[in-house]
Amino acid sequence: MTLANTVSPSLLQNRLTYQVIPISIRELLFLSTAPCDIYGIKDGIFYRALRRGVFTNKNLLRELIAKGQIYLFVHREDRSLIIETVQKNLLQVTRSLSLGNPLEKGKAQMNLLTINMGYLYQNPTDDTILKLQHQCAKNLAYFLLNKIDLLVPLQREYIKQKHHFVLAQPLIASVFLIGLMKYSQLYSDQEIENLFITSYFKDIGMSSIPTEKYDQEELSDKEKEILSAHATNSVQILKGRLPLSPNHLSIIEHHHTFSLLTNKLQLNLREKQKEGEIIAGFETMLVTVMDVISAMITGRPFRKPTKIFEALDLIKILIADQYPQEFRLIVSYFKNFFIDR
Ligand SMILES: [Fe+2]
Repeated sequence: MTLANTVSPSLLQNRLTYQVIPISIRELLFLSTAPCDIYGIKDGIFYRALRRGVFTNKNLLRELIAKGQIYLFVHREDRSLIIETVQKNLLQVTRSLSLGNPLEKGKAQMNLLTINMGYLYQNPTDDTILKLQHQCAKNLAYFLLNKIDLLVPLQREYIKQKHHFVLAQPLIASVFLIGLMKYSQLYSDQEIENLFITSYFKDIGMSSIPTEKYDQEELSDKEKEILSAHATNSVQILKGRLPLSPNHLSIIEHHHTFSLLTNKLQLNLREKQKEGEIIAGFETMLVTVMDVISAMITGRPFRKPTKIFEALDLIKILIADQYPQEFRLIVSYFKNFFIDR
């Protein structure tokens, strides 16, 4: 006789309440089968939405996302099974990026990478997760550098997935960065890859605050303080753990030299560079500008996303006087590839 036959449904519900923990529905979207039983909740009652081993029903999952039901539940002891399966899948997709349909492969890789970024933000000191994330991000950079035509459709597809902005913003910014650097014809592929990694990991210090907290319009004073120190925290988290040069760590340290967070609307990188404060002023500016554009075009629960051309208006205020040529390059890049397409 099964447990379900011996105890009342209400008692079962009670037990489930204490035994299950939420997972994001996105963790399942790129898995072929459910690695364990998955529960949904309807009218306050848990129900089994997917049985272990069955093929994940993508349409059902997309419907739930569309309805805003982005959380499902698993037994506490099954949580690690989901994480392991996602990571195994990420590694597999990464290793076979060049095989099959490149758009589908790139899309799956970017999504799995973002989910793993969520695991990393929950455990920023875990070397295994960091190493996996770094290796997979490097492979993505290499893949994108050789498939530059895919940048626009991949960005579009990726933004549609509506990952949490804290996890999505660094990837969107870093993909813009690859395109812009390639377009400028000023950099070698190795330099682009290094700056991609720098840009992608630069916000890991934001993991000191749980991701969901950023959904609030106002953070507490303490949280604001932690947030304003996130660039320094990122350096502390990454130093000696990722192969980043002192220049690249300096870019991370200064990526909010001007910032929407601190409302200092002046990017005085040239002056700071002269003063010897910043070594790589131009690259810092590129990383920062792509970050600002990415932040503006991704929505927040408390504000709508901005159009790219509106974001460029702000960039004009921030950099056009000090970096006229570079500003023209940035505008030309976005006009050519991302506006009116
Ligand atoms: Fe940042």
